[in-house]
Amino acid sequence: MGVLPADARSEVVLVSGKQSCGPDAFLLEVALSAPLKPLGPGQFSMLTPVGPSELTVPRPFSVYDQPDSMHLSFLIQVMGSGTQVLDELTVGESLRWTGPLGNGFEVAPPDREVVFLAGGVGSAPFLLYSRARETAQARTHLIFGARTEERLYDRHAFDGGALKIQLATDDGSAGFHGNAVQALEAELKACRISREALFCACGPPGLLHGFADFAREGGLEFQLSLETYMGCGIGVCNGCPTRTTPTGRFAGWPWAKTCTDGPVFSGADVDF
Ligand SMILES: Cc1cc2nc3c(=O)[nH]c(=O)nc-3n(C[C@H](O)[C@H](O)[C@H](O)COP(=O)(O)OP(=O)(O)OC[C@H]3O[C@@H](n4cnc5c(N)ncnc54)[C@H](O)[C@@H]3O)c2cc1C
Ligand code: FES
Repeated sequence: MGVLPADARSEVVLVSGKQSCGPDAFLLEVALSAPLKPLGPGQFSMLTPVGPSELTVPRPFSVYDQPDSMHLSFLIQVMGSGTQVLDELTVGESLRWTGPLGNGFEVAPPDREVVFLAGGVGSAPFLLYSRARETAQARTHLIFGARTEERLYDRHAFDGGALKIQLATDDGSAGFHGNAVQALEAELKACRISREALFCACGPPGLLHGFADFAREGGLEFQLSLETYMGCGIGVCNGCPTRTTPTGRFAGWPWAKTCTDGPVFSGADVDF
């Protein structure tokens, strides 16, 4: 299973913008050498430094924004050596970009209520998704959680449209006092969100596990964008297995590749 997208390419690109957006995160914009078609929300790219860095394994990042056909931006949290090297890049320096990769979220029809559940940089796929829902008479919610207010990275990028935003912080410094799943539970109890909505989640594994358990118990229809480790991003290394369900679309095959079969999966298809 796993097919490299026909339109994927790999090239050395230039950093065209760089901006801090929290204590440990930054926005990185790159300039491509040739136009790229509009990308779907949740599609990702592999980024690799070029030059003296000894880092050889590329790292995957959701496409955060696509300001025009020649530029892409990424919202990146510094976790370890790979993201640290990317954080050291400055405007005008180069890096290797491989993309577009992955299936991304299929944008739900306008008459379907949609809820985005994001934890930290898990908000990344939802900027493009919320724009794709802007034109419709669509009811779209964002529940955006983080440990503290300053880790609701670049949250004002979501302001100004029809998106209904509920913030949540573990320490209560902004919005609901608690995590994003608890905030969702409160919204459902208050009937501000319908149980018939489509729920789309992205964030750290702990949040996604908590959300998946909650959604299954409540009979919610949901999709997950998974952030598993990846070695290649193109279906070659087998480094990104996700366990599947026997009754889902991978029936009969116990593992899916997150990079080429995902990263977005229906909750019914993966045992997560
Ligand atoms: C499809 C996809 C989209 C992603 N989109 C984004 C994005 O938009 N923005 C962003 O900041 N990150 C995103 N990630 C996660 C990002 O790829 C990792 O944080 C990055 O690879 C870490 O590399 P590193 O070398 O800095 O950290 P490492 O040195 O590899 O790890 C440092 C620490 O972080 C932990 N860690 C590393 N990767 C992950 C992970 N995927 N999940 C949980 N813990 C991890 C490790 O266990 C370790 O404790 C995405 C991942 C995938 C698969
Ligand atoms: S990351 Fe290599 S197969 Fe998925």
